[in-house]
Amino acid sequence: MPEFFASAPKGLADALEIELKELGLQVTGKAASGVFFESSWEGCYRANLRSRLASRILKPVLEFTAYQPDELYNQIRRHDFTKYISPDQTLLIDANVKESKMHDQRFLAMKVKDAIVDQFRDKYGRRPDVENRFADLRVYVKVVKNQFHVAIDTSGASLFQRGYRKDAVEAPLKENLAAGLLRLADWDRQSPLVDFMTGSGTFLIEGAMMALNIAPGLHRKSFGFMKLANFDQAAWDRQVQEAIDEEREELPFQFYGFDIDRRAIAKAKENARSAGVDHVINFKTESVATIQPPVEKGLIVINPPYGARIGDEDNLRDVYRDLSHTLKHNFKNWDCWILSGNKDLIADLKLKASRRIFVYNGSIECRFLKYSMH
Ligand SMILES: C[S@@+](CC[C@H](N)C(=O)[O-])C[C@H]1O[C@@H](n2cnc3c(N)ncnc32)[C@H](O)[C@@H]1O
Repeated sequence: MPEFFASAPKGLADALEIELKELGLQVTGKAASGVFFESSWEGCYRANLRSRLASRILKPVLEFTAYQPDELYNQIRRHDFTKYISPDQTLLIDANVKESKMHDQRFLAMKVKDAIVDQFRDKYGRRPDVENRFADLRVYVKVVKNQFHVAIDTSGASLFQRGYRKDAVEAPLKENLAAGLLRLADWDRQSPLVDFMTGSGTFLIEGAMMALNIAPGLHRKSFGFMKLANFDQAAWDRQVQEAIDEEREELPFQFYGFDIDRRAIAKAKENARSAGVDHVINFKTESVATIQPPVEKGLIVINPPYGARIGDEDNLRDVYRDLSHTLKHNFKNWDCWILSGNKDLIADLKLKASRRIFVYNGSIECRFLKYSMH
């Protein structure tokens, strides 16, 4: 059976492993950046359609050591790339190099491209063109200390791009990170979620999709595997139908999102509508200073502003103090998880975290902290 690799934001590999097992996929290994699993190609379609945490699903095809361009060229030619696309389709090489003798990424990508297109020339007398954005075949080349890992992409656009987000606020969370954080928070999918600073609504929309069992890939129009020669339309249709059959329409509880910015709330509503979950989410324009519990019990998740720009931090101190005051006085006996990339601001909360998890929000190292307001 083919082996695939699901990549995920740093800090989510353990949660992704559990998710892939729940999807019935056979996990064979784990790295900091993701999880290996063995499955049929239909299983790969399933992971692309249903994984909420993966960034993309890759199909590793070659591993080797190379120090010289000729070695690299010859090693790439060991694998038959002509089986994936026709010479009339397009190709993209994505190279990422660290601590290696050949360190020029562009040169390296060109050498790999030459080795691949020469296979097509030999077989057909024609070759695929290189296309930067929407290539039919994307080849990922990762090199660390002269050790090459070559994989073909099966996802196309990154999987966090679910297709429901029409509009984002400044600094929105990636959808797969938001879904991963909800897993790390051990949210039970059966109790209300409350977000005091909902922005474009990512936490709540992802939570609602989980609770309603809406597959995250159902809104997307295309995936990389659809461009490959072995694409099995019947298998894909089967996976889509199965996912649709498992959706729920209603829930016995609701989701609640607040934000001080009226435009953010308008965008969040629009995004929720486009994701098909607006009937279970209540959005309201309100400052964190005055929020009262909208229900008796639930879990709070918040991604407050970090103050990435100079000068922001002073203004934000007051916001964090308001947040702390609201939690202590209005939300006694609630649990709250806060994602923040700014240690100083978090210290201003003057609350003691009962759990601390390190995750990356893009390139920012963040802490995901649990506070029990007991
Ligand atoms: C980092 S963004 C949240 C992004 C959100 N997680 C998403 O995925 O789109 C922080 C949000 O906090 C909101 N905010 C800032 N100060 C606030 C306050 N005093 N009360 C409520 N919301 C506030 C901002 O309007 C912004 O939408």
